Amino acid sequence: MATIKKTALVIGAGTGGYPCAIRLGQLGVDAMLVEKAQPGGVCLNIGCIPSKALISATKLAHKAQHADTMGVSFGAPTVDMGKMQEWKGGIVRKLTTGVKGLVKGNGTEYREATAQFLGPKQVKLSYADGKPDDIVEAEHIVVATGSVPINIPGFDIDQKRIVDSTGALELDHVPESMLVIGGGYIGLELGQTFQRVGTKLTVVEGLDRLLPAMDKDLAQVVTKQIKADGGDIVTGARAKGWTERNGKAAVAVEVGGQIKEIEAEVVLVAVGRRPVTGGLALDKAGVKLDDKGFIVVDERQQTNVPGIYATGDVVGQPMLAHKASHESEVVAEVIAGKKTINDARVIPAVVFTEPEIATAGLSKAEAEAKGHKVNVGKFPFSVLGRAMAIDETKGFVKVVIDAEDERVLGVSIVGPEASDLIAEASLAIEMGAYAPDIGLTIHPHPTLSEAIMEAAKHAVGEAVHIQNPRKR
Ligand code: NAI
Repeated sequence: MATIKKTALVIGAGTGGYPCAIRLGQLGVDAMLVEKAQPGGVCLNIGCIPSKALISATKLAHKAQHADTMGVSFGAPTVDMGKMQEWKGGIVRKLTTGVKGLVKGNGTEYREATAQFLGPKQVKLSYADGKPDDIVEAEHIVVATGSVPINIPGFDIDQKRIVDSTGALELDHVPESMLVIGGGYIGLELGQTFQRVGTKLTVVEGLDRLLPAMDKDLAQVVTKQIKADGGDIVTGARAKGWTERNGKAAVAVEVGGQIKEIEAEVVLVAVGRRPVTGGLALDKAGVKLDDKGFIVVDERQQTNVPGIYATGDVVGQPMLAHKASHESEVVAEVIAGKKTINDARVIPAVVFTEPEIATAGLSKAEAEAKGHKVNVGKFPFSVLGRAMAIDETKGFVKVVIDAEDERVLGVSIVGPEASDLIAEASLAIEMGAYAPDIGLTIHPHPTLSEAIMEAAKHAVGEAVHIQNPRKR
């Protein structure tokens, strides 16, 4: 057992950890990044990236099948899931290898080991190959251990019949039917992925509608699409358990006090995620958790123990990769002695459903709860030239502004390329823009971005391509 002295140790090479390790190297801090599995964490290996690869491939198949309205006809798509998986795997390999290269290239040491606190400045590293443990002594320690899916009683994950997001992303064939438990981000993204290439989809959601954390009008557009593609949605429902029957799972679902049985070849459990802190022995360092098990941090991402920081999913909602990487870079600067704090005004969120949903800033209800009198501008893609030209006219852009000073408080988009369009809204809110700042900015024509400009104008009664709600 050797004792290694470092200025900083980062635990976890996911999006909450590796950017910190890279920045520490750039800032000249003697640092080590330790990871027990592959670099890249959930996002690169079993989350954002592989899901987006499968989503884009199956969107292509779906679009091709519906291209006859544009005068182009294809036969029914043939899906080679093995080849799709291989292609997806190649992307993941490229990115994860890139992460390791960047960490080392910037002068931060990378080790594959499992970390466990021995004290506030001491961490034990254990190696899978049986090499003797090492001890790292570091002035600064960053915990970026992420999150894992929550399990529900009665549904042990076997990654065959009952899968979590990891198993769903590895399916070697298109299942004939899939029952998704949980109508949130993961359930809908992955459920629609397979639905688009022929899987009969059923979504079981505990609350009264899909995507309960999003505005109802946004969620409704996706709900309609799932139904239009032949899916079933059962709300106010709890999955209780299942039995194997004829090569399928017969799932008992409780709805309105009655038990209903739904059969599906594959059951995807997507009811949320929980932080990973077990096995770290955080108690030996004295790090405080909240009542949900998340690590409590301040605006410098520092825990209650000076010199111990935490970033990403392990510090709480929203559990989003871009939030994690931002926090990760903040910590590197804090450790390097800069006066940086995490003062981001907005954390955009994207759900890669069909169509996509993206939000930045406050919803109308959130703005009103904060005491704002608000105006809302809305512009539907159905009247936008570019949306018509790509035959993707479902959805709208909604801009929430303060009715008094016209400052942009929030933007939400459901529709084509919402994931990319939202970046403009994030920048606008981060820079403290007013609705006319967006409305008077010349947006290229014909593009989807014009919908944001028109919605901002609509909020102040100046939209040109739609009736305005009021005279100024
Ligand atoms: P989620 O919290 O988005 O949705 C879980 C849903 O399951 C909720 O609607 C909840 O009401 C429902 N539910 C809970 N228990 C249930 C039960 N027993 N029966 C039926 N329904 C039940 O969680 P999800 O989809 O697992 O995603 C986890 C996290 O991962 C999200 O919070 C999100 O931040 C992150 N994520 C982000 C993505 C993105 O940025 N595009 C994509 C996927 C995940």
